[in-house]
Amino acid sequence: MATLKLNNNAEIPVLGLGTWQSSPEEVYNAVLHALKLGYRHIDTAFAYGNEESIGKAIRDSGIPREQLFITTKLWCTFHKNPSDGLKESLTRLGLDQVDLYLMHWPVPLNPNGNDPKFPTLPDGNRDIVQGWNFIDTWREMQKLVGHGAKAIGVSNFDVYNLEKLLQASSTTVVPAANQVELHPHLPQHKLLAYCKEKGIVLEAYSPLGSTNSPLLTEPALVKIAEKYHVHTATVLISWAIWRGTVVLPKSVTPKRIESNFEVIKLEDEDGKIIDNLYKEIGVRRIISPNWYPEVVFHSDD
Ligand code: A2P
Repeated sequence: MATLKLNNNAEIPVLGLGTWQSSPEEVYNAVLHALKLGYRHIDTAFAYGNEESIGKAIRDSGIPREQLFITTKLWCTFHKNPSDGLKESLTRLGLDQVDLYLMHWPVPLNPNGNDPKFPTLPDGNRDIVQGWNFIDTWREMQKLVGHGAKAIGVSNFDVYNLEKLLQASSTTVVPAANQVELHPHLPQHKLLAYCKEKGIVLEAYSPLGSTNSPLLTEPALVKIAEKYHVHTATVLISWAIWRGTVVLPKSVTPKRIESNFEVIKLEDEDGKIIDNLYKEIGVRRIISPNWYPEVVFHSDD
């Protein structure tokens, strides 16, 4: 499997198994199957609630830990104590360290809110911690490098927030990666160019457009799939790799896990057609929650 180099010099396999919305029961078999097929990169998060099953599948696979690339994410309620968040995840995974630890959202939430996972206030708004922001969180996360996390990065950061983070005087570590929703309806060309310039690997979540995706039946994509005699999902995965991102398709279906692993080399002319699809359709987020857009998403390109 091809890899990209992170800014800590570690190699990250360009294709990993996504596990958002994979239940603990399903994910065990999915990860075991993926590892048997040759996947070496698994992406999870505290908030997915499946780290324990993933850890068990990793152990049961018998594959040496050093051959695997494991990512998990700091949940919003741990922003003031990232080291507690990481400890929780490592315990659940049964690992000493992860290869990449990402700040899941640039939004610190109050752990004592009404709901432990998505704290809300009585008026229904999210219970955002006052007097603390993602720059403070990052300052604390920097201490985790070499202490449970080989590399640290962010998720759901747009150019505006990345720029804020990189300009902060307390920022000494450039995020190794930024994981965002990325597919032909939301290609985020400017964000990709920005990340390349800064040496930040951009990772695509929901690269297939998530559940019941409109992308899989998109005529232009189906046409390209027919040309290469592959599934439309394979075109989406291959396009993500062609443009230099890491791609994290999620599946709990053995046949799909298998076919998603077969990447094709897209011709540049096809890659460019997919690059420009959004111009006809318009940019749209398929799945990222629209919470606190003023904090999280300032603009789409
Ligand atoms: P399932 O997990 O039931 O196999 P994304 O990676 O964009 O989040 O998309 C995940 C969704 O796409 C899931 O509903 C997953 O279903 C489905 N999926 C994954 N791979 C394929 C594929 N090769 N063909 C069709 N649907 C797929």
